[in-house]
Amino acid sequence: MNMRFGPARGLAGAVRAPADKSISHRAALLGAMASEPVRIERYLHAADTTSTLAAVQALGALVEVHDEEIVVRGTGLREAHEPGRPIDVGNAGTLMRLLPGWLAAQDGRSFTLDGDESIRRRPVDRVAEPLTAMGAQLQAREGRYPPLHVEGRHLRAIDYELAVASAQVKSCVLLAALAADGETTVREPARSRDHTERMLLAAGVTITRRDGLLSVVNTDELLLDTVRVPGDPSSAAFIVTAGVLVPGSRLLIGDVGVNWTRTGFLRIVRRMRGIVLGDLEEESEKLVPIEPVSDLDVAHGALEGTIVEPDEVPLAIDELPLVALLGCFAEGETVVRGAQELRVKESDRIAGVVEGLRGLGADIEATADGFAVRGTAGLRGGTIAADGDHRMAMLGAVAGLASREGVEVIGMEAAAVSYPAFVEDLRRLGAWS
Ligand code: S3P
Repeated sequence: MNMRFGPARGLAGAVRAPADKSISHRAALLGAMASEPVRIERYLHAADTTSTLAAVQALGALVEVHDEEIVVRGTGLREAHEPGRPIDVGNAGTLMRLLPGWLAAQDGRSFTLDGDESIRRRPVDRVAEPLTAMGAQLQAREGRYPPLHVEGRHLRAIDYELAVASAQVKSCVLLAALAADGETTVREPARSRDHTERMLLAAGVTITRRDGLLSVVNTDELLLDTVRVPGDPSSAAFIVTAGVLVPGSRLLIGDVGVNWTRTGFLRIVRRMRGIVLGDLEEESEKLVPIEPVSDLDVAHGALEGTIVEPDEVPLAIDELPLVALLGCFAEGETVVRGAQELRVKESDRIAGVVEGLRGLGADIEATADGFAVRGTAGLRGGTIAADGDHRMAMLGAVAGLASREGVEVIGMEAAAVSYPAFVEDLRRLGAWS
């Protein structure tokens, strides 16, 4: 589906951020791993997280969907059923990387995980490696890509140092550690989102973080009861960007998750002098079993270029394309460094952002590990292809609202992967009449 987004006059009003995708995936998985029913309030009903519900059902969990909540009745930590066919993760990279952690511990049972064309281009050796070290047997196509075959074993704990600051890989090891013998430790090269750690703590697991080292002790069961999913800061980031860029805007986004490990983008926007008010969580090493939320109050204003350093990258990984867009409107240069991980997302997001924004009139170039944009006081407009990547589709839409001539997005339906109400929310904010 192609859709044109013309220049907007000013966005006003309030929307509620859609539920968090990362947290919804984790809640459904932990629900399936628990022995008692888990209620999940405000589960995200989008393509990616629907794949997770189908996956846990294939593994023996029962899922009831009600208006305001879902209930997952799990199989217990070591009792996943062996489905008779491959599990289809669709477009969901988080499901593809986290689920093998649980499956690796299903002694004597085997599983195959597969997904769409984009998933088949994304590496899974990064999870196969630690799970193999814990005693499971895994096989990936060409040693690196899905389909991924997992043969569950009785696992042993490991001390693991992550090669990349990836919350998905970290979470995979933590899930496997729950059913492994002993205490597992994981060291990450830089902080990344910590939703898994917080949810495990809430589920009664002995998990600590000290001096950058995570330790998790194996357990017999998870005791989770209720999970409330906050709004997704990565989805809200598109509305934030529209509010900051479209002259005359003043808008409110309700119920946004403001866990420090997810608000890197908001810190970057503020550094660029963008006006975003909200009660963001402070940095702390101590793990807490909650996910803080805040409303965000956003207004249009002039921006300055900035440099995003490598240690900030995992804290804003999914929002970096928006930093490039903001850079087009900022005074001076905006540079992102240490973001080579963007090449293995739903699409190669370095190439996609650079080619896409250049086609709309941006002065932007790719670097080996990111991009550099020189602000030209805005964008002309044109056409951008989402290439099946939800975040590229939404980036094109926001670029159109802020552009001089408008943007045609090819493949706007991709937004349904994480934010099905995106176009509707823009309309509610008065992006067009
Ligand atoms: C996610 C972690 C990030 C992010 C992805 C969701 C998660 O990936 O890009 O959209 O839910 O853990 P990496 O941890 O692989 O960087």
